[in-house]
Amino acid sequence: MKFLIEKICCIGAGYVGGPTMAVIAHKCPDIEVNVVDINPLRIQEWNSPDFDNLPVFEPGLSDILKKCRNRNLFFSIDIEKHISEADMIFISVNTPTKTRGIGAGQASDLKWIEASARQIAKYAKGKTIVVEKSTLPVKTAEVIKSILQTLSSSNKYNKQNSKKFYILSNPEFLAEGTAISDLTNPDRVLIGGDDEEAISCLKKLYLNWVNEEKIITSDLWSSELSKLIANAFLAQRVSSINSISALCESTQANINDVSKAIGMDSRIGEYFLRAGPGFGGSCFKKDILNLIYICNNYGLDEVSSYWEKVLTINDWQKNRIIKIISEKLFGTISGKKIAILGFAFKANTNDTRESPAIQICKGLLDEGSFLSIYDPKVHINQIKNDLATFPYIENSSSNHSASWESAESIEDAVQNSDAMLILSDWEEFYNINYKILINKMRGPSWIFDTRNIINLDEAKKSGFNVWALGKGNLI
Ligand code: NAD
Ligand code: UGA
Repeated sequence: MKFLIEKICCIGAGYVGGPTMAVIAHKCPDIEVNVVDINPLRIQEWNSPDFDNLPVFEPGLSDILKKCRNRNLFFSIDIEKHISEADMIFISVNTPTKTRGIGAGQASDLKWIEASARQIAKYAKGKTIVVEKSTLPVKTAEVIKSILQTLSSSNKYNKQNSKKFYILSNPEFLAEGTAISDLTNPDRVLIGGDDEEAISCLKKLYLNWVNEEKIITSDLWSSELSKLIANAFLAQRVSSINSISALCESTQANINDVSKAIGMDSRIGEYFLRAGPGFGGSCFKKDILNLIYICNNYGLDEVSSYWEKVLTINDWQKNRIIKIISEKLFGTISGKKIAILGFAFKANTNDTRESPAIQICKGLLDEGSFLSIYDPKVHINQIKNDLATFPYIENSSSNHSASWESAESIEDAVQNSDAMLILSDWEEFYNINYKILINKMRGPSWIFDTRNIINLDEAKKSGFNVWALGKGNLI
């Protein structure tokens, strides 16, 4: 065997690096796993003694950390040491959309990838397998290869001429909120590469807990492209069902009945057919933008405009929700208080990146409403960051136009409000006590349910006016 894996280093201790390495450490107790990051606060939070201040909220994660942390799983800022000792290095850094320069607004910004490759070229020793975990544009492996080869062939970094790198693509398919179960029981593991021994070495790692038939291999570029396309297809299903939610409202049909009826067709399948306020999360939009950029680069204009529509519908869905709320509340929401239930982009995560709540809250604030925002896991500083241009009011006893407050509970948020707006599908929003809440609100009291999770009969019986997404039979 050409490779022996005793130590792994993961560059990037984020939503992917943290949970993924925790599962690898848990399933491979004989391997030492070191997760490194340039952000010392993040590393400090991962090392937090009480497990309550981890930077990532993910069900099941703290149980694994309790078993592995400081046993064979370590979080550190000592990037040089852990790269130099590693037999295998995962790159799990952020790859957001470029905000300036060529491709701004579409292409992925690869500066963190390039910085990682440069760190590896500088510090790695001997034979090292470098695994792309981040989601990357097609042919990025070539860029990484070229940096590693160019730098490591210079005398400055490779005095004994002993460095050799093997590049693999191993995209991550976990979804936030279910990361631990996705990682422990993946639908598939995809490994792209051109060195058979490096591929079988990574495969051997996964074989510690994944069945062989679920581990598939391909060339590097197909692997990179498959990740972008998986996200594009998932996002496209959400936009497809969201477009039909509007049609249901216009035709007195019920989106849940339509989703169920089409989802029972095994060729269509039941998943990703839940209508909602639009998809959020750090990746769907960025990966589709990247796909659009790549298609344009290859002159495939029709293909890129096809995928652009997935993003158009997603924005439109958020904007039409803002409009509906304003219309239902007598055409004006200026000075009215709206309780926002859920700020994360979905349940079971503290992540707000691209959360539909951000655009919808900003739209409501632009119309002059006062928002009381409650989310079980999102930290108030994160909301302050996301709504930076709008004033935050502390301990308010009255409404303040175009500003917001943070609430500690659903009851706290709805106090004296005109409406509650459900934006994330947290479990506790399924079981709202309508009878108690309506007495705390101003009449006529509205519920706007963008996730279709409330008990309509009970809400109406308690005296609420209800608007539920895609429920034309209600309107
Ligand atoms: P993140 O922003 O949560 O984490 C990235 C981390 O990398 C940050 O903590 C940052 O400080 C660190 N970093 C950046 N440059 C570094 C460097 N040179 N050295 C050391 N640390 C560095 O991002 P994420 O959500 O974990 O996503 C990472 C990648 O995985 C992205 O490409 C994303 O598209 C992909 N992905 C994300 C998810 C998800 O659910 N979030 C799922 C699958 C794939
Ligand atoms: C998504 C993919 O599901 C993962 O496979 C992928 O690894 C990840 O992106 C990534 O590359 O970052 P994630 O964004 O964490 O995972 O969460 P999803 O469950 O896919 O939800 C994305 C958004 O779509 C959420 O806002 C969610 O509420 C929305 N959604 C999802 C719907 O509105 N309806 C659905 O039926 C499903």
